[in-house]
Amino acid sequence: MIGRHLLEVEDLGGAEGIEEVLRLTDSFVEVSERAIPKVPALRGRTVAWLFYEDSTRTRLSFETAAKRLSADTMNFSVGSSSVKKGESLRDTARTIEAMGIDAIVVRHASAGAPHRIAGWVDASVINAGDGWHQHPTQALLDCYTIRQHLGGIAGRHIAIIGDIKHSRVARSDVEAFTALGAEVTLVAPPTLLPPSLDGWPVRVSHDLDAVLPTVDVAYLLRMQRERMTEALLPSLREYTSTYGLTIRRAELLRPDAVVMHPGPMNRGVEIAADVADLPCSLILDQVRNGVAVRMAVLYLLLGAGTSLGATGPTDPSGSPETTQTRAEEATGE
Ligand code: NCD
Repeated sequence: MIGRHLLEVEDLGGAEGIEEVLRLTDSFVEVSERAIPKVPALRGRTVAWLFYEDSTRTRLSFETAAKRLSADTMNFSVGSSSVKKGESLRDTARTIEAMGIDAIVVRHASAGAPHRIAGWVDASVINAGDGWHQHPTQALLDCYTIRQHLGGIAGRHIAIIGDIKHSRVARSDVEAFTALGAEVTLVAPPTLLPPSLDGWPVRVSHDLDAVLPTVDVAYLLRMQRERMTEALLPSLREYTSTYGLTIRRAELLRPDAVVMHPGPMNRGVEIAADVADLPCSLILDQVRNGVAVRMAVLYLLLGAGTSLGATGPTDPSGSPETTQTRAEEATGE
């Protein structure tokens, strides 16, 4: 289903492709719960990180995922590299590839940077967030987490609340959630919505108190101040009083509704400190599931994907097995 790269949600091939990754993730959640959470599926493969932007969760979880699959990892830190001496993105990517790698995981402040790299190298490229554009593995782990807690996504009402304009997470999540049949409402002040919502299969509201009692998922976003070039809000205090998920507002949620956030949180701004720790908060489940989802993505791209599977380490015969069968083999089930 998935091709050579994962650059955007569209590369997953709609609901069927997303479901395939989620099903495979179940196997890797099981691996992650073992006493020794490691399988040999990607032994001999090398995965490199190319992070031009800060990250805690995404980088560590890709690294953990690769190690649990027994891949070798190559950590590239922009701050201490020749990028500081003016080396271009193309030269940097091709230099890393010349050392013999199978995949590059890229995060970059410019939308489209991972696509450019995919045109320059033979390795698989995984987009770990590019500017305001896309963050496909975040969308996958969010879908997985919702499915795990609510049993499914189809027919669910999900509100994405906050700085939609600058959010690659919102763009990827809207695509994935709606592909799986959810209804999505964006809740934000007009200044924090994209200039045009043409083609976005969503509703929009500026009234959080009215939306909260109707949702299954309240998905909060951080104010991306590093991407704001102008003053889009009178003040953060004003934002919190209108759009922050305070304890009072959390009481408007239905008893079975859940709260999510991709992190990093700004407690006290978009989410009250104590709301983040309520039992209905899935924020740490999102982080936990991020590892298994990224194992599934790396496995599909490097170990069992249709284009690479025949030469992959888990399928030397190239026989037409299903991904699930190969995953079971890889995870020792
Ligand atoms: C997000 C990102 O970097 O896009 N975080 C993440 O990957 N978990 C969201 C953010 O920075 O606010």
